[in-house]
Amino acid sequence: MKNKLNITEIINMKNNELLAWITAYDLPFASVAEKSGIDMILVGDSGGMVQLGYQTTNPVTMDEMLLLCNAARRGAPNTFIVGDMPQGSYEISRRLAVTNAMRFIKESAVDSVKLEGGKRVVPAIKAILDAGILVMGHLGLTPQSISSFGGYKVQGKTIKTFDSIIEDAFVLQEAGVFAILLEAMPKLSAQQISKQLSIPVYGIGAGGGVNGQLVIMHDLMGFYQQFRPWFAKCYIPVVLDDFCSYLSGLKDVKETGRKTRSDGLLKLAEMAVSKYIGDVKNNIFPGDEYSYPLKQEELDELRKSKYWKLELE
Ligand code: KIV
Repeated sequence: MKNKLNITEIINMKNNELLAWITAYDLPFASVAEKSGIDMILVGDSGGMVQLGYQTTNPVTMDEMLLLCNAARRGAPNTFIVGDMPQGSYEISRRLAVTNAMRFIKESAVDSVKLEGGKRVVPAIKAILDAGILVMGHLGLTPQSISSFGGYKVQGKTIKTFDSIIEDAFVLQEAGVFAILLEAMPKLSAQQISKQLSIPVYGIGAGGGVNGQLVIMHDLMGFYQQFRPWFAKCYIPVVLDDFCSYLSGLKDVKETGRKTRSDGLLKLAEMAVSKYIGDVKNNIFPGDEYSYPLKQEELDELRKSKYWKLELE
């Protein structure tokens, strides 16, 4: 099993290695992620949807997040875990933001917290950082504000949204976040941001030009029926043949089950997560198939932005 990454190693990976991370909200999937060698786990408030059955992430409470974080921590004692601060836990006052961030650290032993938003949440971010807690930023399509976006819409395709996201990214970097997650953006827009920032920039639905990829565990497993983002890839079809060969290669399935429990869904899930990790590290996933394209006229428009500095492929 690999060692738990520390913050210096995570930051240094920006220039050396793509980082693969995944969400997990319970013991079985967190332990699968750790066993497969994942770099980092997010206990996202998406757990409110995929695990608890809410329609959006808005109803998720602090107590629910702590329960999910605790279960994930028990499953992955040796992995860097980011706890997602739910809506309402950090916007009201700096005092409440610090109190709630501290609960994540003290009551569920996560390694850092993540907050959605740019300039508007900087006072909360600074207060949490001053309390000695690591913070990750989250920009682009931020699901807690889904009603203000008018639905799950790709961000950073127009000068207006691109400029606002990159300005927020610079402000968050200046405030002291250790990394930023970009959600649902075209590859070229996200790549402009990752190349101009000195801190790691990760993507979920933001193409392969960033410093690492996040997926929702339940999308990777095909476990969530209500909705599947266009950029999410289910890895079960990819590894199913290998899983069947593995099972038929076992001398005695019953004995394997008794000895190692490696005879069922957890083994299949481990194969799927391992394959995902390999694909991220080799820059195979997301590829163009799972990235939002830009039309030529959208690109021509974006090139007029004062922040469109580099001509990238
Ligand atoms: O809650 C979550 O899992 C997230 C991802 C959608 C980025 O914040």
